[in-house]
Amino acid sequence: VPGLRDDLQLRSLLDRLHAQSLAQEGDIRAHFDERGSASVVGTRTELEQGRAFWRDKLVALDADKAQFCYALCRALHARRIVEAGTSFGISTLYLAAAVRDNGGGVVIGAEQEPSKVAVARGHFCEARLEAYIDLREGDILEALRGLKGPVDFLLLDIWTPLARPVLELVAPHLRTGAIVATDNTARRRQEYGALLAYLDDPANGFITQTLPFDGGFEISVKLTESWVANDYSDGDGP
Ligand SMILES: C[S@@+](CC[C@H](N)C(=O)[O-])C[C@H]1O[C@@H](n2cnc3c(N)ncnc32)[C@H](O)[C@@H]1O
Repeated sequence: VPGLRDDLQLRSLLDRLHAQSLAQEGDIRAHFDERGSASVVGTRTELEQGRAFWRDKLVALDADKAQFCYALCRALHARRIVEAGTSFGISTLYLAAAVRDNGGGVVIGAEQEPSKVAVARGHFCEARLEAYIDLREGDILEALRGLKGPVDFLLLDIWTPLARPVLELVAPHLRTGAIVATDNTARRRQEYGALLAYLDDPANGFITQTLPFDGGFEISVKLTESWVANDYSDGDGP
């Protein structure tokens, strides 16, 4: 069974990109110190103003979280994955490897910065994973319009104000048992208030838990109504 572990070319690319991302952390910290803000991203207005600063920043998902996403996608036998926030494509590479190793499918990603899209596409070709990636350039809420399901896995690794609107857009296409993973939900708890309220509302059919990765990593499972009610009355249960 092929796997991430065996793809030495991909692993060496990922090591290089994670190192590049880590090397930028000092600049990012200094940026926040200057602004006197503890927020990774700030409000939508601050974001627009800060766009130039973020243009060359990888802000990649941590390697342990990305490996965990790979494992979850293998367990789900994921064939259609949506990723919010592609940047230079590091998490995308893990997700595309999972789809490839599951026998085929697609990772649909979106990135608003054209220069990041160009570099990400280069990484996808270098890893020979481009056939499994549909990267859409532009604002994510536009880029995902017309999305079709079933979606097996959604990664929310985008500026926090966009997390809930993206989830609401994708939710109708999530299959039963699909997983939504959201980065930094412990560190950014307040900023994620709207998203967490949506995930906690029983009407929306998720169970959700913040896992103790650095900054917190939210894992939310989309259930059917009968699973929510723990109803095994059809005779298939224990
Ligand atoms: C945290 S980074 C994603 C990192 C990526 N998942 C990885 O592991 O390499 C978030 C990205 O979302 C992009 N972004 C922010 N707002 C966006 C929007 N409205 N539409 C599309 N992309 C957006 C940013 O340009 C940034 O590159």
